[in-house]
Amino acid sequence: MFIGTPIISEEQIQLKVRELANKISKDYAQKDLIVIGILKGSFMFFSDLIRHIKSPLKIDFLIASSYLKDSSSGQVKIHYFPRENLTDKDVLLVDDIIDTGISLHFIREKILEMKPSSLKICVLLDKKERRVIDVPIDYVGFSVPNKFIVGYGLDYQEMFRNIPYLTIFKKEAK
Ligand code: IMP
Ligand code: MG
Repeated sequence: MFIGTPIISEEQIQLKVRELANKISKDYAQKDLIVIGILKGSFMFFSDLIRHIKSPLKIDFLIASSYLKDSSSGQVKIHYFPRENLTDKDVLLVDDIIDTGISLHFIREKILEMKPSSLKICVLLDKKERRVIDVPIDYVGFSVPNKFIVGYGLDYQEMFRNIPYLTIFKKEAK
C-alpha cells in the first residue's frame, strides 16, 4: 500500500477548495455558468469545488489525453467533448494540474471555437517551472515544485487517484 506523507493535507485541500469556490461564486453571481471538469484527473477536485459554488450552474466533462515524446512536443487528443451548448455561455474549465500547459492550451482553443461569452480556467495545482506554453489561468489552488504528484484524483499509471491527500510519487512506494 502507498503510504507517502502528504505534501498537501486533506484539510489544506478543503480550505483551498472553499476559498476558490467563494471567489468563483462572487465572479459568476449573474452569469450563465457551465463548469467543465477535465477527466480523469480533476474528478475529485471538481466534485468538491462545485458543491461549494453558490451561483447556479450546469456541469459537463471533457476527456483528453496527451502523448508527450518530450516536454515540448505534445499531442493532445480529445475523447469526449462537452454536449452542452457552450455558445454565449460562461465557461469555467477545471483541471487537476497544469504542467507544460500543452493540454490546457489545446483544450482552451477548442472551447473558444464554440464562441462562449467568457472562458476561465481553474486548476488545483500549478507546476510553473515546467511551462512550455503560456496559458491564462484565473484560479490556482497551490503552486507545486517540479515533482510528480499523486492523490486527490492525480495518478501514476492510473493508480493512487483515491488517496485523499496530495503526495509525491516515489517509485519504491508502488
Ligand atoms: P500538461 O499538458 O503538461 O500541462 O499536463 C497536464 C496533464 O498531465 C495533467 O492534467 C495531468 O493529468 C498530467 N500531469 C502533469 N503533471 C502531473 C503530476 O505531477 N502528477 C500527475 N499527473 C500529472
Ligand atoms: Mg489531467
